[in-house]
Amino acid sequence: MFPYTALAHPNIAFVKYWGNRDNGLRLPANGSISMNLEGLVTRTTVRFDASLPAERVNINGKIAGNAAHQRVVSLVDEVRLMARINHFAWVESENNFPSGAGIASSAAAFAALALAAAKAARLDLDEAALSRLARHGSGSACRSIPGGFVEWAAGTGDTDSYAVSIASPEYWNLVDCIVVISTDPKPTGSSEGHALAGTSPLQSARVDDAPRRLDICRNAILNRDFAAFAEIVEEDSSLMHAVMMTSHPPLYYWQPATLAVMQAVRAARAKGMPVCYTIDAGSNVHAICTGASVGETAKLLGSITGVREVRLSNVGGPARLVENPTTNPYEI
Ligand code: PMV
Repeated sequence: MFPYTALAHPNIAFVKYWGNRDNGLRLPANGSISMNLEGLVTRTTVRFDASLPAERVNINGKIAGNAAHQRVVSLVDEVRLMARINHFAWVESENNFPSGAGIASSAAAFAALALAAAKAARLDLDEAALSRLARHGSGSACRSIPGGFVEWAAGTGDTDSYAVSIASPEYWNLVDCIVVISTDPKPTGSSEGHALAGTSPLQSARVDDAPRRLDICRNAILNRDFAAFAEIVEEDSSLMHAVMMTSHPPLYYWQPATLAVMQAVRAARAKGMPVCYTIDAGSNVHAICTGASVGETAKLLGSITGVREVRLSNVGGPARLVENPTTNPYEI
């Protein structure tokens, strides 16, 4: 069968997903809002091949380790079941950003895999179905299927828990300044972290209040209201980290430089700079600023002790097929 190649961007959440109602189906405890990160790309090629003696999964030029292999195969199995085919798959995936650079890669990886695998199996899935499929690989991957600013509704079950675009990439010129503090692998991965969320007495308060934060964040984006956006994004990030720090066992992702960046960002905003922060399950900080202030913001962030690198990303588009794959689709 013909190979297909897809591209997808990672995303950064402004209202975070943390904790599942159903860990297997990755049904989130609450809805979330994010933006895709342009310039950071995962490119994945999938071919179902009757002559293959076994599944073949390569990530960044190397044979995938056991855990990654299994996660890829689970998603490919789902596609095979839907398409009623039983050939093994050849999967080649490559990121244009170094792994360990503090940028979560699973969202882009599973979004690109869902699209490439569905096409390679000749399935005709719409955006919602692709978003649901990507969600089964990694929750946040469902938000990397649509473009621009994206909202993932918690939904009532598997069929209505998917992401939609709420504004195009051009709608608001925001930039994510990714402040790299550590490139070490995170101590606890997000799948394990989601499973611990319910052990924090703060999780139910965080989840119950999520509709309010989603409304404020969505309206702030639609009104391009940076002041309202900044307040809710920082509040949401702190709520998630409060849950992490009070779960059993507790998860502490911050390093001293993480807090130094948070304080510098708040001090800059108090002086009128349009910048705010959000932090995922790691020590690196995503400082979100407007396009007009990116030079000044990057300079400030780069001067903070403990900051190794600042990477800039504009708002990215949707997951998409590569129109003109190279003659050898496995040469990525
Ligand atoms: O999709 P996962 O399982 O990698 O979870 C993502 C969790 C956070 O990045 C911390 C929050 C989010 O909404 O992206």
